[in-house]
Amino acid sequence: PCRPRPTRQTSSSGWGLGDTTETSRPNFLLLLADDLGIGDVGCYGNSTIRTPNIDRLAEGGVRLTQHLAAEAVCTPSRAAFLTGRYPIRSGMTSGNGHRVLQWAAGSGGLPPEEITFAKILKEQGYVTGLIGKWHLGLNCHSSSDHCHHPLSHGFQHFLGMPLGMMGDCAGAEPSEKRVALQRRLHLWGQACALAALTLAAGRLTRLLRTPWWMLVLGLAALAAVFLAASRHVGDLIIYADCFLMRNHTVTQQPLRLERVAGLIHKHRPFLLFVSFLHVHVPLVTTADFRGRSLHGPYGDNVEELDWMVGRVLRALDREGLTDNTLVYFASDHGGSLESRAGPVQLGGWNGVYRGGKGMGGWEGGIRVPGIFRWPGVLPAGRVVDEPTSMMDVFPTVVLLGANVSPPPRVIDGKNLMPLLQGETPHSDHEFLLHYCEVFLHAARWVQRGRVWKVHFMTPNFHPEGAGACYGSKVCPCIGDVTEHDPPLLFDLSTDPGETHPLTPDSEPEFHAVVGRLRQEAARYSLSQVHQQLGSIYNIWRPWLQPYLQLIVGARAGHSQGAGVTASDIHA
Ligand SMILES: *[C@@H]1O[C@H](CO)[C@@H](O)[C@H](O)[C@H]1NC(C)=O
Repeated sequence: PCRPRPTRQTSSSGWGLGDTTETSRPNFLLLLADDLGIGDVGCYGNSTIRTPNIDRLAEGGVRLTQHLAAEAVCTPSRAAFLTGRYPIRSGMTSGNGHRVLQWAAGSGGLPPEEITFAKILKEQGYVTGLIGKWHLGLNCHSSSDHCHHPLSHGFQHFLGMPLGMMGDCAGAEPSEKRVALQRRLHLWGQACALAALTLAAGRLTRLLRTPWWMLVLGLAALAAVFLAASRHVGDLIIYADCFLMRNHTVTQQPLRLERVAGLIHKHRPFLLFVSFLHVHVPLVTTADFRGRSLHGPYGDNVEELDWMVGRVLRALDREGLTDNTLVYFASDHGGSLESRAGPVQLGGWNGVYRGGKGMGGWEGGIRVPGIFRWPGVLPAGRVVDEPTSMMDVFPTVVLLGANVSPPPRVIDGKNLMPLLQGETPHSDHEFLLHYCEVFLHAARWVQRGRVWKVHFMTPNFHPEGAGACYGSKVCPCIGDVTEHDPPLLFDLSTDPGETHPLTPDSEPEFHAVVGRLRQEAARYSLSQVHQQLGSIYNIWRPWLQPYLQLIVGARAGHSQGAGVTASDIHA
């Protein structure tokens, strides 16, 4: 049903848009890829991969070349995107190695008091929807309180995966957690079996006077449970994490793009966040695109992503909404260098930028494609090299869509409109901080045409000099890292690949720059933020598992289960 458009509130605050008329309030279509590298896209210089639809978007709008994610992994980057704040402010991070939310049935997630741009726009009469990956939590206390669910954070429609796509959803390599869990359960099983045998043998030979047959039996039973679980842990993860939801209900429906068109068609004004499961492993690709690209299964998946972007854009064209819709395209962080199976690369390419997903401050993990298009309002074909952040989407969208005062809280993003429209040549960001969990790995300072970047810490690569942490899923933020004193300093304006560290001898401003950045970093304190990704909130809690009965039913063969198989996910 068509909803009447809300009457616009006028505001005299500096935040307001002044005399902007109602008709200038655009729809928002936000497209976010998962793990896509900046070097994977045609308009960012890749000549061998075909991304005509994303390229067309850039031709019709503004392409940002220094667009930055707030973190180099999913959960914190996405939290920052939706709230416009560094993840350390919302607590969507940890200080103990937990980089992302691990389970759909953990209790951590985007805290209810955080305010997303969707929540603000919904209050202003927008119809809001999210399709695809969430990965910002689900429940707090019961399996259906949905305290962290998209519908509790300003989205009126949700169709997607509460956690997100993983290699484990298809039992494929590389595995996010199956293999490690399997190993651990196996070890526990063996330890229990050994203990039970020792006690039993001691009792039988009367060497040990163990009267506790119950203990022996208990240990044996535990061993059996652990060993059985280790064999089936892959299936369990598929059922526990890899399900689709429509609003508050677990469904099995595959994501189909026709539904996206439906939402666009029915409601005005709308804010639609399409959070693609592409191009994360296991790279589920439909038959039409398999074997089509020059870059194996990864390239095929990128080309399919581009095709999907094209379909969504065509839906806008068909409904005559293109001129009235601000479209944004980005990736949540850089491509994953460690994602590979044998010699086959299954993760993205970050172009000239060093490093990738998960690597603290290295440019390859945080510099992402960033495109804005709004025909007639934003110049077509403009390229902006100034530093911008994915956190900027929050104030930009809120300003354009809701003529209201900002929520009384620190917002780290900046309104991008003056820069996108060409009214100012410079970014409003003077400093940008690059955290890895709660640890500040790097920071940049934009100073009249120069972009300084300092690394206080960098991950140690394995093997040394390999440029990535092969052998583990992702580089750590603390522990196996190098602390630099003096810090590594690069001038990104002349050395975007971070290949020539400057020294106090080669750079007269070395101490001044490092000192200024240290001073800036000291202004950010973690205060008392409750860390949502700390281990106790980030473990599997059976009572938080949605549709446990379906899991049990499926194991018994009664129901089709809530699991998603690779072939279920067509888009
Ligand atoms: C294009 O992307 C593919 C897939 O990630 C990558 O292997 C290739 O090196 C890239 N090519 C260029 C020229 O950047």
